[in-house]
Amino acid sequence: MVQSLVESTMRGQVFACTKNSEEECFNRLLFGANKVYGPSAMKVKKGDFLFLLNLSNDVVYGIFKATSDAKMNIEPKAWGGRYPYQVKVEPVGRIIPLKNAKKLLKKLNIKRTTRMKRATTTRLLELYRPEGSTRDKWLHSLFGIREEKELKVRLESPRSWSLLSEAKRIERKVDEDIPMLEATTLWDFPKQSYGKHPKGDNKYPGVTPALIIWNLVWRYTEPVDLVLDPMCGSGTTIDVCKEEGRRVIGYDIAPIRPDIIQNDSREIPLSNDSVDLIFIDSPYGDNIRYNDHPDCIGKVSSETETFYDELEKVMKECHRVLKEGKVLGWLIGDQWVKKRFTPVGFKVYERLCKYFETLDIVCVTRRGQSSHTGLWYNRARRFNFFLRGFKYLLIMKKVSPDVLAKNKDARKIDWTYYKRKELGAS
Ligand SMILES: C[S@@+](CC[C@H](N)C(=O)[O-])C[C@H]1O[C@@H](n2cnc3c(N)ncnc32)[C@H](O)[C@@H]1O
Repeated sequence: MVQSLVESTMRGQVFACTKNSEEECFNRLLFGANKVYGPSAMKVKKGDFLFLLNLSNDVVYGIFKATSDAKMNIEPKAWGGRYPYQVKVEPVGRIIPLKNAKKLLKKLNIKRTTRMKRATTTRLLELYRPEGSTRDKWLHSLFGIREEKELKVRLESPRSWSLLSEAKRIERKVDEDIPMLEATTLWDFPKQSYGKHPKGDNKYPGVTPALIIWNLVWRYTEPVDLVLDPMCGSGTTIDVCKEEGRRVIGYDIAPIRPDIIQNDSREIPLSNDSVDLIFIDSPYGDNIRYNDHPDCIGKVSSETETFYDELEKVMKECHRVLKEGKVLGWLIGDQWVKKRFTPVGFKVYERLCKYFETLDIVCVTRRGQSSHTGLWYNRARRFNFFLRGFKYLLIMKKVSPDVLAKNKDARKIDWTYYKRKELGAS
């Protein structure tokens, strides 16, 4: 009974340190992560089993328990502020360092972005089991020690995992892999959603791939920040933000869920400078029939200037409600219809530049289009046109008018030119 209780609630997570940060982890009984591992670190709940991988000497220390849910800056001064996604821990008995840690974790399919479920956590815990103790006794004792709340740090001599019973490969699907932040300006998400719970409705016309929003949320906001989606369709932004602990407001001209507020985004009922991030996946023209609402901008053709004039009203409102220094992500795609190309992305970008500074432009692969069929691929080749393969994610920042004007001046860059082989040299 006790064992099944322990096992059913078991979750595990690996944190990392180096020879420079290890001592502070032990002294403060605190583990921390930077932005790269923040998304997985912030999923830790009180009671989870934790392990500390020292990247410098390749050992993984165990066993620890989280004594708090993960939070931002529990101890803001820890590690000079470099690892703000933090969790308080306590050792469970003596701390044992397992050698060859990177190889061991690889063998068990454990990454720092893996939220380990029962099976993997048990497998890793077992490597810390004292010789002579049975698996069942060991799990019982783990539970008991937790009750006693042993808080002291007592370090044991290192143990080589290769001497212990062989760590068997386990089924990956039992663990939840937390996504990693995109590092380049080319994003390709094979599925509309990710994780355990669906985000938005993948049947909604023009639904946004949830990882686009996830990436913006993690790059440009912190927990509890306020995110706004003025045209939130099936609510993908709401679902992503709720899971990531951000506050969120979603409007749409024709809401399809009770948590979406009916509103025309050309007039946003929020005060000036009140929002930390805006994401908007607007209509790209009149190619999709979203609803029958007369004020739906998706009824206006992107071949007309009216379309951009109406979107500009939305841009102005976004600019007004966004805090200075904060970010707007606008997803938009071009149009090719009946032998005419319209650079919708460039035209929307041009309008945005009147108000915002450009942070970057990301190219997002278009998948799941109704035209992505063999028939359409064949037609595109035969009749010499291209199917739309990407959308633009325009990442814009609200800056003061002075900065916006100044950013137009060219700068003098001291480039580092790398030495190349001389031309013609063999
Ligand atoms: C591409 S969809 C958004 C998809 C959404 N991000 C999702 O993942 O489901 C564009 C949305 O803009 C909404 N829309 C069009 N005109 C609007 C307006 N004037 N005000 C607010 N929403 C509008 C449409 O109803 C539609 O849901």
